[in-house]
Amino acid sequence: MSDLEFLLFLLPSVLALFLFFNVIRRKKNPIHLPPGNMGWPFIGETIGYLKPYSATTIGEFMEQHIARYGKIYKSHLFGEPTIVSADAGLNKFILQNEGKLFECSYPRSIGGILGKWSMLVLVGDMHRDMRIISLNFLSNARLKTHLLPEVEKQTLLVLSSWKENSTFCAQDEAKKFTFNLMARHIMSLDPGKPETEQLKKEYITFMKGVVSPPLNLPGTAYRRALKSRSTILKFIERKMDDRIRKVGDQGSEKLEDDDLLGWVLKHSNLSKEQILDLVLSLLFAGHETSSVSIALAIYFLQGCPTAVHQLQEEHVEIARAKKELGERELNWDDYKKMEFTQCVINETLRYGNVVRFLHRKAIKDVQYEGYDIPSGWKVLPVVAAVHLDPSHFDGPQHFHPWRWQNTSGSSPSSSFGTTMSNTFMPFGGGPRLCAGSELAKLEMAIFIHHLVLNFQWDLADTDEAFAFPFVDFPKGLPIRIRRHSLI
Ligand code: HEM
Ligand SMILES: *[C@@H]1O[C@H](CO)[C@@H](O)[C@H](O)[C@H]1NC(C)=O
Ligand SMILES: *[C@@H]1O[C@H](CO)[C@@H](O)[C@H](O)[C@H]1NC(C)=O
Ligand SMILES: *[C@@H]1O[C@H](CO)[C@@H](O)[C@H](O)[C@H]1NC(C)=O
Ligand SMILES: *[C@@H]1O[C@H](CO)[C@@H](O)[C@H](O)[C@H]1NC(C)=O
Repeated sequence: MSDLEFLLFLLPSVLALFLFFNVIRRKKNPIHLPPGNMGWPFIGETIGYLKPYSATTIGEFMEQHIARYGKIYKSHLFGEPTIVSADAGLNKFILQNEGKLFECSYPRSIGGILGKWSMLVLVGDMHRDMRIISLNFLSNARLKTHLLPEVEKQTLLVLSSWKENSTFCAQDEAKKFTFNLMARHIMSLDPGKPETEQLKKEYITFMKGVVSPPLNLPGTAYRRALKSRSTILKFIERKMDDRIRKVGDQGSEKLEDDDLLGWVLKHSNLSKEQILDLVLSLLFAGHETSSVSIALAIYFLQGCPTAVHQLQEEHVEIARAKKELGERELNWDDYKKMEFTQCVINETLRYGNVVRFLHRKAIKDVQYEGYDIPSGWKVLPVVAAVHLDPSHFDGPQHFHPWRWQNTSGSSPSSSFGTTMSNTFMPFGGGPRLCAGSELAKLEMAIFIHHLVLNFQWDLADTDEAFAFPFVDFPKGLPIRIRRHSLI
């Protein structure tokens, strides 16, 4: 027999053997992926997944996929095989097992633009260290003493610029408010000053790049954003050097620590590069999300006069009591009295879904309710799908703040017997739960307080919140306002 003949003779037996063992292995350990469609090569189903839709719905893609495959399905998104979850239990399981079975995994383009030291992309010990710094800086103690007065001051600054019977974009006003607040809080920048305005302009270009396709080609939004990123970083760096120069040889002991920049310079061992990315990612995390939430509240309330009326009652009572005591600025006790307002805030976050899904990947082979999730696969917990699921929230397609009354920790629609912590996750969960959730709620509450006490508003033009999938009002939410005085 020649070598070739020998090989040809052997081949079938080798193949048979191979198949045989494969079948055995399969039998012993069959991999059971969730149902689904992997779509086209490489792009998979990404285009369908990212198609814009009304922010108060889950969108056609999710609807059709859930109808066909159930709440857990496989797909191919952002260039990777992916498990999509609209299942409350699996979402919680994913977030709780961060670092053990799953890990934060944002597309590379996000890291390119937010920086490799950004909190959104870091994992492990480095993430923990940065998180501790952020939590310290956003602690309840600081909220009470530093942030609440600042939030009220910035609210009044924006609202006092509103002219009687005028029309403007509410979303821009909300952005102005949250940007000024973060710029003050992070770097002690004053609103209206040329340097603050310039930073704001750069930041807008930067934001457009974060949400655009990551094509680093001349003329693209992404390229412009990368340029803005470096301008912004230079700006922050200059601020940092000023601080260090000011204290001279007296050392870090003498640094002021009442803004984030000062605080990290004084109390942490982070490198310059790390501080820059931290500052930028906090600006990003804290500005965009809370301004959209405020715009959503303005939008939903405009369609729900009963809720506005009840808010007015709540806030008039607070304001009257303060007047009698001769107090002017709001304090923590006043904030704690804003109970119905908290219902409005929760309902806004449930119905509007500012952050619709999170990016994770499996770092081990995981089994969940009979399904296999292979190590290395992307996993997308879609928190919005649970918030809009009629099996968790009664009449999810209605803005109904009253569903949050008398819940005291259980599900708002108690008849379903699930607890809220399993179904309501506007701020994510587990070890990466939003570090700014309490600040975000404080901002919304204080803004709503002065808004309902001083203004009535109507839509000046039809507009609607869309999920791109980041939530945005295409026309910027144009409203017409009338002043009134309820106290
Ligand atoms: C309504 C407004 C907000 C919403 C809906 C929101 C939502 C979220 C969500 C869902 C996450 C988790 C991301 C993930 O797990 O991959 C997150 C993380 C984070 N958020 Fe917020 N956020 C809001 C406001 C804020 C504010 C005002 C700040 C203040 C600076 C902030 C700071 C952060 C930080 C630092 C993280 C990273 C936490 C970590 O990785 O440990 N957020 N946010
Ligand atoms: C408010 O403005 C609109 C249009 O700008 C105008 O038609 C209307 O007369 C104004 N109303 C009052 C009370 O000034
Ligand atoms: C910074 O490093 C020094 C020495 O390397 C250490 O003593 C100190 O505890 C560190 N501080 C923080 C906040 O990690
Ligand atoms: C709003 O939701 C949070 C969970 O994010 C919950 O702890 C809180 O009790 C809810 N507030 C009301 C008024 O139901
Ligand atoms: C919630 O409780 C208050 C008093 O405890 C009651 O007046 C109110 O009607 C209750 N609301 C709902 C929606 O059950």
